[in-house]
Amino acid sequence: MNKHLAAPLLQVRALHAFYGRAQVLFDLNLEVQRGEVVALLGRNGAGKSTTMKAIMGLLAGSQGQIIFRDQDIGRLKAHQIARLGMAYVPEDRRIFTELSVVQNLDLGRQPVRVDAVHWTPEKLFALFPTLGDMPRRPGGQMSGGEQQMLTVARSLMGNPYLILLDEPSEGVAPVIVEQMAEMILQLKRAGMAVLLSEQNLHFAALVSDRACVIESGHLRYQGSMQQLLNEPAVQQAYLAL
Ligand SMILES: Nc1ncnc2c1ncn2[C@@H]1O[C@H](COP(=O)(O)OP(=O)(O)O)[C@@H](O)[C@H]1O
Ligand SMILES: [Mg+2]
Repeated sequence: MNKHLAAPLLQVRALHAFYGRAQVLFDLNLEVQRGEVVALLGRNGAGKSTTMKAIMGLLAGSQGQIIFRDQDIGRLKAHQIARLGMAYVPEDRRIFTELSVVQNLDLGRQPVRVDAVHWTPEKLFALFPTLGDMPRRPGGQMSGGEQQMLTVARSLMGNPYLILLDEPSEGVAPVIVEQMAEMILQLKRAGMAVLLSEQNLHFAALVSDRACVIESGHLRYQGSMQQLLNEPAVQQAYLAL
């Protein structure tokens, strides 16, 4: 097999991260393969968002190696990493409230990439029917969950290989959670990779192939989602159930 295709899409090696002098991530190792959905699980404050920020180049002073598509991105800035085909949807979803759904999507447009899905507003409306019902609605007049979907959809307009989703199910209505789960499964079917941060094991279990469990900034467990579901002790120790 072509070496490029055999290597993991994302490889995080010995990641240490800090806020000022306080260390919050310790020697974290994780991988995401092409076409794989990986859940980064842990309780509130475990270090999930910090891990995503560090991968995305948003954290000064983190140490370790981050390799994306065979390129060391550890020293790159967030906008450079985005241009390489990694998308990040933070917890505090940000849309342009004055702009319509379609205008928000247009702002996410990036060039088409070799080997990546080419997203258009039409394809995204099939993925997110709720957004398709309100193409002209200003962002400011949408519910929190609808705004969350729009943030994800806008990130997909960049045609990423990998999307980092920070707690997409948190604080949104059940109908949106359902669409989020279906959306993630469809991204996977389209061949995309997803790194998903979650406190909610039930949601993560619906969509994820593998799980990495962190606690206090340390990786405590790694295995298939099926294995984790058979490990009540691990769930009890490190997850809010
Ligand atoms: N901007 C910040 N400055 C200082 N400490 C922070 C900051 N953001 C998060 N932390 C701390 O880092 C640790 C990990 O936080 P975070 O990555 O947000 O956890 P999670 O996303 O799993 O809830 C927590 O102890 C949190 O209090
Ligand atoms: Mg968080």
